[in-house]
Amino acid sequence: MRAKRTSLVHLIYFSRLNLSSDPQLRASQLGDITRQAQKKNEFAVITSFLLIEQNFAAQVIEGERTSIQEAFNRIVEDQRHRDVQICEWREIAKREFVHSFKTGLRNTATETLFNKANLLPMLQRGTPKASAIHGLAIGLQADAMSKQGIDHLFI
Ligand SMILES: Cc1cc2nc3c(=O)[nH]c(=O)nc-3n(C[C@H](O)[C@H](O)[C@H](O)COP(=O)(O)O)c2cc1C
Repeated sequence: MRAKRTSLVHLIYFSRLNLSSDPQLRASQLGDITRQAQKKNEFAVITSFLLIEQNFAAQVIEGERTSIQEAFNRIVEDQRHRDVQICEWREIAKREFVHSFKTGLRNTATETLFNKANLLPMLQRGTPKASAIHGLAIGLQADAMSKQGIDHLFI
C-alpha cells in the first residue's frame, strides 16, 4: 500500500529582534533560542534556516503543514522578537534545508553573500521579498556545505 501523502510547506517570515546590544549577552541569547528551537524542530521534523542581519531576523521553516502551523504559533509568541510578519507560506515539492535549525550571521566568511542579497534595506523598509530571504539562506547553506566538501548534493 502506498504511504499516505502528507503536505509539505515552507513558511518565510521576518521580525525585529529584542536582543541585548552587548555582544556577549546577545550571543548567549541567540544560543538559548537555538537550543530551544532546535529541540522543538527535531521533535516536529522541521528543517529551517534563520538569517540574522543587525536587529532583524528572517527565517525559512519547512515541514508538514500542521507542524509548521504549530511552530509558527510558538515563534509569534516568543518575546525575544516582535513584529513577526509572514512573507510567504506555500506548498513545496521537497525540502531544501538539511538542518533542524541553522543560523546565518554576517561575518567575514559570509559577508559577500549577505552583500549580494542586499536584504538589509528591504528589511528596514518592511518589504523583504521571500525570494531574497530564501535565496540567501540557500546560498549560505550551499557555501557552508561546500566548505565541508559536500557540494555534490546542492548542484
Ligand atoms: C528568532 C527566533 C526563531 C525561532 N525559531 C523557532 C523554530 O524554528 N522552531 C520553533 O519551534 N520555535 C522557534 N522559536 C521559538 C522559541 O524557540 C520558543 O521559545 C520555543 O519554541 C519554546 O516554546 P515553548 O514555550 O512552547 O517551550 C524561535 C524564536 C525566535 C525568537
